[in-house]
Amino acid sequence: MQNTQDQDRQWSRHAAKYDELFLDALDPSVENPIWAALDAVPKPQSRTIADLGCGTGPLLPRLVGRFGRVVALDFAPAMIARARTRVEGHADADSVTFETRAMHDLDDFAGQFDVVVAINSLVMPDVREIDRTLRAIRASLRPGGQFLGVLPSMDAIHYHTMLLMDQALDRGLEIEEAERSAAFHAEHQYYEFAFGRFQFLGLRQKFWQPFEIRHRMAKAGFASVELGQVLYPWDESMAGGADFADHPRSWDWSFVARP
Ligand SMILES: C[S@@+](CC[C@H](N)C(=O)[O-])C[C@H]1O[C@@H](n2cnc3c(N)ncnc32)[C@H](O)[C@@H]1O
Repeated sequence: MQNTQDQDRQWSRHAAKYDELFLDALDPSVENPIWAALDAVPKPQSRTIADLGCGTGPLLPRLVGRFGRVVALDFAPAMIARARTRVEGHADADSVTFETRAMHDLDDFAGQFDVVVAINSLVMPDVREIDRTLRAIRASLRPGGQFLGVLPSMDAIHYHTMLLMDQALDRGLEIEEAERSAAFHAEHQYYEFAFGRFQFLGLRQKFWQPFEIRHRMAKAGFASVELGQVLYPWDESMAGGADFADHPRSWDWSFVARP
């Protein structure tokens, strides 16, 4: 797909400065239900786990040595190059296979994975590609396998907007001014809210509503999906963050899906 061709180049372009540009769902300051889900996998030494859209590989140090076999996949060559450096010199580095390809391309892994993880990487802007990828992931799982991960939340942007709006009104702004201010600080110019998309620095990413997660997982043949929230600290990376400390934290969606 033309779309995939373009986006792999765009993601590669951002590999070097990735940490400066993106919220990290795996940062220790973030409360992430994925850790408990990974810790709960029984007999990990006898399991194969795939990290799809592994990016610069922040999850890999937690997987290597614990799981018997690890497949780290990303379609952006520069991401894979950085991910490789995370396991260099590790005693179990041989247990990791790196794959530079799109994550719908899993035919040769059919029925092989016990666990598939996708951390903020199911973000293809074309929903046909999302559906195709979810079907491929479903087919890559062994019986009893599970698919878990994190998805960027569209509704969290609405939540942030609401808090910014109230803050602007409390400062005495008129309603139109408050709306303009909230839209500016929540960076609405980068979002297509109706279709759940975010476009920034050449990257086009899907953002998710919880009903769409359930809908697309069911459509791809997952019988159950449990949702949770990845909670981010209010800090300077979010406009107005320091003032929102008394409010519930912003989130992305975590999920565990089973065939
Ligand atoms: C937001 S980053 C997240 C990276 C990593 N999982 C993390 O938590 O830091 C998204 C990653 O998914 C990759 N990606 C996006 N769409 C993909 C696709 N269709 N096939 C393979 N990789 C993809 C990008 O190259 C990028 O490295």
